[in-house]
Amino acid sequence: MQNLKISFIGGGNMAEALLAGLVRAGHAPGQLMVADVRVERLDELKQAYGVCVTQNNAEAAMEADALLLAVKPQQMDVVLKSIAGKIGKGTTVISIAAGIGIKHLREGLGDEVCLVRVMPNTPCLVGAGMSVLFCDAGKDHCARAEYILDSSGKTAWVDDEDMLHAVTAISGSGPAYFFLLAELMQATAHALGLPKELSGVLVTQTALGAGRMLVESGKTAEELRQQVTSSGGTTQAALEAMFEGNMPDAVRAAITAAAKRSKAMALPLTHKPCHRTLAHGPDQGAGHS
Ligand SMILES: NC(=O)c1ccc[n+]([C@@H]2O[C@H](COP(=O)([O-])OP(=O)(O)OC[C@H]3O[C@@H](n4cnc5c(N)ncnc54)[C@H](OP(=O)(O)O)[C@@H]3O)[C@@H](O)[C@H]2O)c1
Repeated sequence: MQNLKISFIGGGNMAEALLAGLVRAGHAPGQLMVADVRVERLDELKQAYGVCVTQNNAEAAMEADALLLAVKPQQMDVVLKSIAGKIGKGTTVISIAAGIGIKHLREGLGDEVCLVRVMPNTPCLVGAGMSVLFCDAGKDHCARAEYILDSSGKTAWVDDEDMLHAVTAISGSGPAYFFLLAELMQATAHALGLPKELSGVLVTQTALGAGRMLVESGKTAEELRQQVTSSGGTTQAALEAMFEGNMPDAVRAAITAAAKRSKAMALPLTHKPCHRTLAHGPDQGAGHS
């Protein structure tokens, strides 16, 4: 696989995360190509990773064994037009765009194209991503997609494309839920009189430790929570306040709202409801998961 010719269309944050993962894993940079509309971005990626670059999407598509579509959902139709008819017969086309379904991609690229959809997340940037894949092609195409995503974290498969809505609401948007909790904990630590810097260190190291325990202890989240909650102690007082404040309901409502939004984004572009851009909150970057 390390000699697979892999092209990216769109050289933004997610493409860079995946590129970096592949190079770290030993993939030959000369086998990687990025197409983007921004010359300065292409120069940056060429400098940083030694990859080939082009402003011509069709060139990137023609060269590739695997072609990753890594543009914003609202940019996808322009990209599909630019590469339709230019994709080789055996090429694996992998889309990471939130809410763009296989049907939509087939309408743009034709029925014969071998397609995989992926929902990655931003921890791919540090090699700790979670990517969930849905394959609408043969085994070899699945294996290629898994190879690419494995280099920046964990991978899992779903066999029903609709499951990607729930996946988007959990692992796609999930890092933001943890970031919000960290933000609130840091602000409260500071309000309780701790210096800002110390508040940050306490929260980030606690997040890292809790995350590692979830991964490494072999215990469930519920077991770990019970283990650190002594009866009548400080943790119990905190958890009781969270339950009284309806935190479980708020979390359930948040995740359900994200899944619902993902379904709405999957509607044909012309039928999408108009959404107001929020001044604050996780939905600011339209098109991000
Ligand atoms: N970030 C996340 O957490 C996350 C998680 C899961 C999935 N995703 C998905 O990943 C995809 C990429 O997200 P991102 O955050 O990496 O986006 P991004 O940083 O905006 O990267 C997209 C890049 O593609 C370029 N581009 C725009 N139109 C193009 C065209 N016609 N041909 C070639 N390049 C073009 C953009 O240039 P301009 O800036 O000039 O437009 C930009 O450099 C999205 O579809 C998103 O849904 C993201």
